Amino acid sequence: MTRSDSRLWKRDAVSDDRKQTWRSDFPVTSRGEDDVTRREFVRYLVLASGAFAAGSVGVAAWTSVRHIDRGEPMPIVAADKVVVGEAHLFTFPTDDDPAILLRLPDDELRAYSQKCTHLGCVVYYAPDDDELVCPCHEGFFDASTGDVTAGPPERPLPRISVEVRDGTVWALEVEES
Ligand code: FES
Repeated sequence: MTRSDSRLWKRDAVSDDRKQTWRSDFPVTSRGEDDVTRREFVRYLVLASGAFAAGSVGVAAWTSVRHIDRGEPMPIVAADKVVVGEAHLFTFPTDDDPAILLRLPDDELRAYSQKCTHLGCVVYYAPDDDELVCPCHEGFFDASTGDVTAGPPERPLPRISVEVRDGTVWALEVEES
């Protein structure tokens, strides 16, 4: 091979390489277009996964630093106003949090958040069955423990500790679940 043949051969090789790059970036066949679409799709997936992972970390961090308001002790009602099998509604720990105080058949007092743990509907007391009932999707909670007995809720009702002080029922705090 002469020197000029060799130069021509190298130039053709370089030119072929360039063609390959050009062809893969700007395909002219429909098969090539599929490759580009797949490549873009993978790129999109990587970006979406990264964004999702960053979002999850952000939510976890926010949850860990969030202050959970368990409330301050406050009087609710005169103890003799709540008789066996009846309920008294109040708000705790804030004015926007409905709560329910019950006097059970064994004369014990119990208080719970009135928001169903499924989707937040308000529960009511059914003393005949000794249950708290959510009418939205037929969720049922044990009135003595707040545990779910039937229906879609998966968590018990948050319990509020109570105490009788000088004839008045006080709400103390939302207990940790
Ligand atoms: S909101 Fe109570 S069962 Fe769905």
